[in-house]
Amino acid sequence: MATELLTNIAQLTTVDAQGTVLSDAAVLIDGEAIAWIGAAADAPNADIVTDLGGRAVLPGWVDSHSHLIFAGDRSEEFVARMSGQAYAAGGIAVTTGATREASEQQLRQMVAERRAAALATGTTWMETKTGYGLSLTEEVRHAKLGRDLVDSLTFLGAHLVPAGSDADEYTDLVAGPMLEAVADQVDFVDIFCERGAFDEAQTRRVLDAAKARGLATKVHGNQLGEGPGVALAVEYGSHSVDHVNFLNEHDVEALAGSWTAWDAASRSGTPGVVATCLPACDLSTRMPFAPGAELLERGVRIALASNCNPGTSYTSNMNFCVATAVLQMNLSLEQAIEAATFGGALALGVQDRIGSLEVGKRADLHVLDAPSAAHLAYRPGMALTHAVYRAGRREL
Ligand code: NIG
Repeated sequence: MATELLTNIAQLTTVDAQGTVLSDAAVLIDGEAIAWIGAAADAPNADIVTDLGGRAVLPGWVDSHSHLIFAGDRSEEFVARMSGQAYAAGGIAVTTGATREASEQQLRQMVAERRAAALATGTTWMETKTGYGLSLTEEVRHAKLGRDLVDSLTFLGAHLVPAGSDADEYTDLVAGPMLEAVADQVDFVDIFCERGAFDEAQTRRVLDAAKARGLATKVHGNQLGEGPGVALAVEYGSHSVDHVNFLNEHDVEALAGSWTAWDAASRSGTPGVVATCLPACDLSTRMPFAPGAELLERGVRIALASNCNPGTSYTSNMNFCVATAVLQMNLSLEQAIEAATFGGALALGVQDRIGSLEVGKRADLHVLDAPSAAHLAYRPGMALTHAVYRAGRREL
């Protein structure tokens, strides 16, 4: 395989453990991996030399929370919300109805187009979830389709109790036959632990079943109010708890406690539970922003993700999520970039392979049409993605 040198990089944000940022830098790609990083003046020879024209480079975004497998439109619900109606989980049923009606080919094409749109704004690794099927055959269909189209896949059969079903019977179906049927396709099992969705006892049943099957877990928790989601995610050693808008001191303490066996300086040890913040969702539901800056101060690792879905966050643009986190959540630019790259990788358990620009890691790079990463927040909403390399290949 040919080597490619990316040179004339005005600013290279590596997101390594030391937070190294280089000026006048170059990166050598060998096959799928990064082979060398340093000053452009010291760069080794390569088969291909690409002049990036004084642009900024950072790792590709790692979007660790999305719901791309859906059909239908809920813009009316959005408009009603903007007129004062509160968000409630019931809208999930509307999307489930539309998704069940979509043919295999239609659904596959829609998901592929959404994945391509995310790539076009710098997302090189993307997680998505099932959860708009809510029956055994539909959840299996969505899991198979998702497996082909995204990088990490999560089973969210426990997204909502379908109309006409008994909540406990449905939980047993999810924790039993449904989970068994998708287990070989998925990386994570997730559950929406919230008033209006699944309660603590039901959440435990699903997490216990996942554990028994040897599957890693995630929890949607504390989105609409305080609740047991965070505590359960910590108790079960989940990779992440997502949303985290309403946290009390016990929740923060529990999350911080989960990180005591992790050494941030060397990025080694056992990771704790990542608190995944979803700023575009918070905007679109007019919820208070998740307290990402406070969590970081307390030693909790956070991720930023798009939560792309038709109900609460219809965007997959991580440039926008990062800008919002800086402008609205009081994260520094460096904190937001790390949360949207290495933080996402931690939330997906792939931090040894992706999430930062280091020799040996997969060559996932985001080239901005700007001389520094600060432009992401300085020029919010502007088209700033110039090029994207995924596993060493230029995709855009
Ligand atoms: O993450 N919170 C639960 N699930 C989605 C919303 C799904 C919907 O309303 O369609 C979320 O926000």
